[in-house]
Amino acid sequence: MGRALGLPGANPVLKDNPKLTVRKGPYTYTVETHGDESTYSVSDGTRTISVPIHWNFGAGAQTWVLERNGHQYESAVSFYPSIPGLDFTTGDEDLKPRNLDEAIGREIELRETKVCFGCHASNAVTNGKMTYDTLRPGVTCEHCHAGTTVHLSDSFNGDFDSAPPDLRKRSAEDISNFCGQCHRTWETVVRNHWRGELTVRFQPYRLANSKCFDGADARISCIACHDPHVDVARQDSSYDPQCLACHSSTAAPLISSGPDSTKVHAKICSTAKADCVSCHMPKVKLPNGHMTFTDHQIRIVKPGEPFPN
Ligand code: HEC
Ligand code: HEC
Ligand code: HEC
Ligand code: HEC
Ligand code: HEC
Ligand code: HEC
Repeated sequence: MGRALGLPGANPVLKDNPKLTVRKGPYTYTVETHGDESTYSVSDGTRTISVPIHWNFGAGAQTWVLERNGHQYESAVSFYPSIPGLDFTTGDEDLKPRNLDEAIGREIELRETKVCFGCHASNAVTNGKMTYDTLRPGVTCEHCHAGTTVHLSDSFNGDFDSAPPDLRKRSAEDISNFCGQCHRTWETVVRNHWRGELTVRFQPYRLANSKCFDGADARISCIACHDPHVDVARQDSSYDPQCLACHSSTAAPLISSGPDSTKVHAKICSTAKADCVSCHMPKVKLPNGHMTFTDHQIRIVKPGEPFPN
């Protein structure tokens, strides 16, 4: 998570791909890198607009926040390692630029710029204002550990709420809401009416839709499966203990079963005993086909079944 935002002059992805180009309708986009300087250009064949790239977002796929004549834009095209090359920025596929100036990208207002940096950098926003001089790129320790008084918010406005010191003791629901300040909460997804495959990237929402999720049970919290201090574990078998903490005959009772219930643990799989996530947390591509996420709506996947919301 520390690489969520890159500063100027520190862009290995662009250094490895010094000339990128793609044609979209009447416009040709080019990203050229010489030494530490990258330039983003859009041309309609007769006129070309070029702007320097200062802010690159994303460790894998990469989008640029551009500045021109005092306005800010999210680049219309992004770099996707899976191609590898340029294509429309996720979510901006339907933009219909009326002229070359609009073809640069989606204009973003200061309010939105603040929330981009609020999630992808530290100290970028202080008291609601952009503070480029104190900005530190990436998700840093302070995002999760600074501060003392805290409330968990689901109406993120760029000012970041730090984790309470006792985060480890929080319920699965509180942790989902905390991580969801950036990864989006269940409420955020529902409020925005986001549906379909694009919701697969919003893990707190997907997880809450799973039958496994009990907001009071710490065994299904984000930090039961993820240590936010290290890269995500890629081996399917490494998640087996987390599943078996509920789905085994020796598991501690389910909280929802209550003190008097005879049903003590979650059901046991009759199909396999290992690599649980390989079948029950499928990899799903975003609609543009360039990025893959892991579906946190843990479930029995039936062949041919439509993607469940
Ligand atoms: C301040 C915003 C922020 C918060 C809070 C946050 N994340 Fe993230 N996280 C990100 C960003 C941004 C990325 C993507 C980095 C990139 O692709 O550039 C990310 C990536 C990840 C990844 C993938 C890392 C990898 O190696 O591919 C995991 C897992 C993750 N976060 C888990 C969590 C958990 C668990 C929490 C809560 C304890 C959490 N995050 C809280 C912003 C945040
Ligand atoms: C995305 C949020 C996030 C980020 C970023 C983050 N932490 Fe943490 N940290 C947590 C959570 C959640 C816990 C409690 C659960 C755990 O230990 O995994 C924790 C626990 C800790 C602990 C206590 C471990 C213990 O045994 O009690 C230390 C020390 C720590 N973090 C240091 C750091 C440092 C240093 C950085 C920056 C390099 C950092 N953290 C970045 C979320 C984060
Ligand atoms: C609410 C917090 C939040 C805001 C606001 C936000 N991001 Fe992100 N962004 C994330 C998280 C979390 C990830 C990692 C998981 C994912 O990809 O969804 C991410 C991933 C990315 C990536 C990696 C590729 C991808 O799509 O996964 C790019 C590029 C990116 N963001 C650009 C931006 C830009 C540009 C803005 C502002 C217009 C922005 N983000 C606003 C939280 C945020
Ligand atoms: C029961 C275990 C489990 C829980 C709980 C869990 N995850 Fe994951 N998560 C996984 C697995 C498995 C992967 C895929 C790892 C791989 O193979 O790349 C993953 C991947 C991710 C990634 C990388 C992008 C992706 O979707 O592949 C992010 C970000 C992430 N999880 C965030 C979260 C957040 C936030 C929460 C809490 C709402 C959470 N996870 C809860 C198991 C879990
Ligand atoms: C907090 C405890 C808990 C954890 C952790 C947990 N589950 Fe579950 N899971 C449940 C409960 C409760 C149900 C509801 C049915 C039942 O009692 O088994 C369920 C249901 C399921 C189902 C059936 C869902 C359906 O669509 O009918 C599958 C499959 C499943 N879990 C797999 C997993 C896998 C794989 C993991 C690890 C990645 C996991 N679970 C982690 C508690 C948990
Ligand atoms: C090879 C794919 C595969 C793997 C690996 C796998 N499962 Fe399953 N699982 C299935 C299928 C398919 C079903 C549905 C079986 C049926 O409906 O008869 C199922 C059913 C379940 C159920 C529902 C049981 C019920 O009685 O309703 C749970 C819970 C579950 N699996 C958990 C797990 C756990 C935990 C693991 C890892 C220890 C795991 N699964 C590994 C394919 C798999």
